[in-house]
Amino acid sequence: MTGTGKVYLIGAGPGDPELMTLRAMRMLAEADVVVHDRLVSPEILASVPKGARRIPVGKAPGCHSVTQERINEMLAELALDGNTVARLKGGDPLIFGRGSEEAAYLAERGIAVEYAPGITAAQGAAASTGVPLTHRGLASGVRYVTGHRQKDRPLELDWKRLADPETTLVVYMGVANIGQIALALLAEGMPADLPVLAVANATTPREARLLSRLDRIAREMRDWCADGPVLFVIGRVAGLAVARGLDLDETLTEARVAGHG
Ligand SMILES: C[S@@+](CC[C@H](N)C(=O)[O-])C[C@H]1O[C@@H](n2cnc3c(N)ncnc32)[C@H](O)[C@@H]1O
Repeated sequence: MTGTGKVYLIGAGPGDPELMTLRAMRMLAEADVVVHDRLVSPEILASVPKGARRIPVGKAPGCHSVTQERINEMLAELALDGNTVARLKGGDPLIFGRGSEEAAYLAERGIAVEYAPGITAAQGAAASTGVPLTHRGLASGVRYVTGHRQKDRPLELDWKRLADPETTLVVYMGVANIGQIALALLAEGMPADLPVLAVANATTPREARLLSRLDRIAREMRDWCADGPVLFVIGRVAGLAVARGLDLDETLTEARVAGHG
């Protein structure tokens, strides 16, 4: 190979291959190497061209198998060797995906980066459940927040601002801290019976949903046997899960969303 290659920063979407963009598919088809995350579904990995080398760099919660620094270096080395590199990430690369850190590292080294946006998990979950993120009379806005915190540090979120019944709150990476998140929102005056919809593996054949409420979600999550990435939709819109006739998982407690169970 001659000359410097380039890096395609590709959003793979939440899991269903049909939710990948045409641009993402074209970029994947051009790739010599595919560097992919843990959250890229097996269904999507099946569409990686046979001739392309695959490098998994998955980071499981709490156990970083390949550090972000090493991923940055690896992308740069591969591109400097002349490869067309597909950096394949779950959802959208610029939403809780560290895509901008990778792009900045590559830009500092003069390596060209092109993007393919992906459908973020929140949008995927909304489409697969039919539960909207905004809805006239229920929510006039939506906020995406991370429920992940650095080791030994408290969650740094502005709870006062987040506790707004007019705004849907979508929490990414929140499983470990959902108890703390719910308590903080309750302390800021959010109603105890505010619906919370947890969606695991949204848009894949393994999708599972749990409908709960703010004062019970932490307990019900402990009893829920869902595997894989989970997203929380907190707000009045989540109550529409029942009206949508969704297949909802039962929990071991008798807790149901008030008036919907
Ligand atoms: C590191 S963030 C990556 C987000 C991704 N860039 C996006 O735009 O969806 C990982 C979190 O995204 C959420 N997530 C990603 N894919 C999901 C899916 N298929 N179903 C439910 N949640 C998902 C989970 O909250 C997970 O902990």
